[in-house]
Amino acid sequence: MLEIRSLSRHFGDVRAVDDVRLKVDEGELVEIIGRSGAGKSTLLSLINRLVDPTAGRNVTALKGHELRLWCAQSAMIF
Ligand SMILES: Nc1ncnc2c1ncn2[C@@H]1O[C@H](COP(=O)(O)OP(=O)(O)OP(=O)(O)O)[C@@H](O)[C@H]1O
Ligand SMILES: [Mg+2]
Repeated sequence: MLEIRSLSRHFGDVRAVDDVRLKVDEGELVEIIGRSGAGKSTLLSLINRLVDPTAGRNVTALKGHELRLWCAQSAMIF
């Protein structure tokens, strides 16, 4: 299960991801759709830790083995 609350990533004045809440249950398939620039890639990059959030408690606290485990469990199709 994946749960996100109040996740944000801003690039200067650009609010690429702004206070996002998302819950995906195990086995559930979710599509992230939106216009170009809506923040889809940034959201996925936040989830798989390619990008650090501006705000929001998430897996950024993970280090070492726990972080590697998390990265192995999350994937992104560019
Ligand atoms: N590294 C960055 N530096 C500055 N601005 C960025 C950066 N990455 C994304 N942005 C900006 O954040 C916003 C969201 O971009 P993002 O790439 O997440 O959108 P997208 O929904 O994936 O778009 P597309 O459908 O074109 O792939 C855009 O305004 C983009 O210009
Ligand atoms: Mg994209």
